[in-house]
Amino acid sequence: MTDATDRSHALTIGPLSLGSPVVLAPMAGVTNVAFRTLCREQEKTKMGSVAGLYVCEMVTARALVERNEKTLHMTTFAPDETPRSLQLFTTDPEYTYRAAKMVVDNDMADHIDLNFGCPVPKVTRRGGGAALPYKRRLFGNIVSAAVRATEGTDIPVTVKFRVGIDANHLTHLDAGRIAVESGARAVALHGRTAAERYSGHADWSRIAELKEHLAGTGVPVLGNGDIFAASDARRMMDETGCDGVVIGRGCLGRPWLFAELSAELTGRPLPPQPALGEVSTIIRRHAELLVDHDGEEKGCRDLRKHVGWYFRGYPVGGDVRRALAGVSSLKELDAQLAPLAGSEALPDDAEGPRGRQGSPGRVLLPEGWLDDPEDATAPIDADVENSGG
Ligand SMILES: Cc1cc2nc3c(=O)[nH]c(=O)nc-3n(C[C@H](O)[C@H](O)[C@H](O)COP(=O)(O)O)c2cc1C
Repeated sequence: MTDATDRSHALTIGPLSLGSPVVLAPMAGVTNVAFRTLCREQEKTKMGSVAGLYVCEMVTARALVERNEKTLHMTTFAPDETPRSLQLFTTDPEYTYRAAKMVVDNDMADHIDLNFGCPVPKVTRRGGGAALPYKRRLFGNIVSAAVRATEGTDIPVTVKFRVGIDANHLTHLDAGRIAVESGARAVALHGRTAAERYSGHADWSRIAELKEHLAGTGVPVLGNGDIFAASDARRMMDETGCDGVVIGRGCLGRPWLFAELSAELTGRPLPPQPALGEVSTIIRRHAELLVDHDGEEKGCRDLRKHVGWYFRGYPVGGDVRRALAGVSSLKELDAQLAPLAGSEALPDDAEGPRGRQGSPGRVLLPEGWLDDPEDATAPIDADVENSGG
């Protein structure tokens, strides 16, 4: 651990100055305003201030431009949320420009991230997500379009991508270089190929490679993949030299992880692990925030998927877990949580991988996709909302 006065790990992304180099990864269906608020509250309560960057779940550029109601609702930020960080899923320079311009003109966000990491077959099959950086010119045109739309503003554009399509088609070094040449102010690399999906281990040496490749550009490289504890984040920074860390699955059911990460990377003592009683209070707060955002029925339904993650490692019986995973009102939730109040129980084994894992698979691509890496034609109708990254 570094000295308590060492703030050298703070992160600057263009005009944005962050007090810690920690970024909540955008996660479709998870990082909505409720979850981000919860994570920020945890960091504030435990560390005294909010220092990290908390990215919204992705919205598709085209749906935003078309003012799709559901998409607009997904771009909700808390009144005190700063910086407001929005991620666009996009496959087309024209829609990218229009979406980014809309963000600027309507003061919708303070940061725009572009998602090129999605490995889901229904996305790559149409040339989107992790398939796209293979088309170098198209990729560059998309990043440039977003940068052009934000010119003259304080809104930095950043780009998030994977190592490549598969072991024979690596794209991360080209993608990093092209992103920087096109005006991106930071790049984030998930150390897996699309073919690997979420299986095995993220290859952090690719992050080190990218950092070296972009040395001298002054553009920060953020590392992503398999950070499940504060010590993992420290290790990734030490091993790869990356400028910041992006945390996805590790914070599922652990919104307090950001306080731990912030402490670890700014040289302060780690806050204690929450006991079960505190976890039940946090679940209640999560539910309340979800209900504020989406109404009681949808909010409670959305909470269900988080319950198993919250209780991982804690001594909570199957009956309680099942009952909680089926609640449909805050009143019901309160009744189910009541017996846990004040419990001092600590988790047995809450560390290690959580969330999606799965197995590798062949990456579905449009016909002829690999024939011409320099092709600049945008795939038709490749925007897919809610597919996850
Ligand atoms: C449920 C889920 C949804 C995701 N949605 C997105 C997304 O909307 N945008 C994106 O760029 N990546 C998305 N990802 C990928 C994560 O941002 C991250 O790159 C990946 O999970 C690897 O990081 P981790 O090992 O810390 O989880 C998603 C991942 C998960 C598990």
